Amino acid sequence: MSAETVFTNARIVLADEIVEGSVLVRDGRIAAIDAGASRAGEDMGGDYLMPGLVELHTDHLEGHYSPRPGVRWNAIAAVQAHDAQVATSGITTVFDCLRMGSDEDGGFDPQEMRDLADAIETAQVEGRLRSDHYIHLRCEVSAPDVLDAFERFRGDSRVRLASLMDHAPGQRQFQTMGQYTLYYKTKRGLTDDQFAVFVARRQEQSALYSAPHRRAIGEHCRGVGVTLASHDDATLDHVDEAVRDGVRLAEFPTSVEAARASHDAGLSVLMGAPNIVRGGSHSGNIAARDLAEAGILDVLSSDYVPSSLIFAAFQLADQVETIDLPQALSFVTEKPARTVGLTDRGLIEAGRRADLIRVRREVGAPVVRSVWREGVRVA
Ligand SMILES: [Fe+2]
Repeated sequence: MSAETVFTNARIVLADEIVEGSVLVRDGRIAAIDAGASRAGEDMGGDYLMPGLVELHTDHLEGHYSPRPGVRWNAIAAVQAHDAQVATSGITTVFDCLRMGSDEDGGFDPQEMRDLADAIETAQVEGRLRSDHYIHLRCEVSAPDVLDAFERFRGDSRVRLASLMDHAPGQRQFQTMGQYTLYYKTKRGLTDDQFAVFVARRQEQSALYSAPHRRAIGEHCRGVGVTLASHDDATLDHVDEAVRDGVRLAEFPTSVEAARASHDAGLSVLMGAPNIVRGGSHSGNIAARDLAEAGILDVLSSDYVPSSLIFAAFQLADQVETIDLPQALSFVTEKPARTVGLTDRGLIEAGRRADLIRVRREVGAPVVRSVWREGVRVA
């Protein structure tokens, strides 16, 4: 006997249209979509029924694991708290970022990242989690200890994405010293002399380590089928390098030129959803909305605010004339899923996983009212 559920009286957001009707779910998969039909079933009250969101880059777990500087929380409890917020934000598939290599900003040691990954695995296997969790390794290639951290993840099948980052001064996100000074000197309260020593050390490390670490991590990921991401690409040279390295995702390009070249080369261009919600970048980089208007945005990520993902999708649909709701939603569902090879989800379409969210929105912040993962209500 198979398990069937019908969601009825819904505004169903499909790949390129919105239809009113019902969705039939059987054994965790979408079985049928009936426009206009009035099947008996769970009444959605005219709310939107959308595919569950797919998040590729969230740092949000860190704040639950270390809620105050120097404080460490029980890792499984931290994962559960993070998961609860992620799921109630409509995210049914999430890539949790773990830092590999310290750029002297994080304060986590490599074993802590391994412990967090083990907590994610345990929590998932024990059925403690609402969303489907994968791991995104954020690899700071300029750091001396990045390979030591990365080694601990060899053979971990939950790792599906790795990004290659270089946050040394003079590189990518920090091409100008102004931003770097603001970010590191001011935040860390360094004197001029201390800052000069710090900058010299980071530049030396980048010169020494970035190229060989990038090569080693790239080679490993290509060998085992882990999707590669570039990070903060600023120039056409960066994009060429990404293409040569087999990168599929360009995270947070810092120039329109790099974003366009990445998109044109078939990479998915990812920008932060908070950037859309706030109307610009918090670090003075390019505006995600401009890329959307130019047709060169592919993926949005909630970055540090889980609820920004669904909010940004509605805002883009509201504010950009050429983008309707199904298209805006694709940036947070089908496109991120496809980029990392998860073609079993991300769309309301017969045969796909019944990862579904019920959303009400008149104006302002949307309300995620219910969430189902493989047809089972989880929030
Ligand atoms: Fe960055």
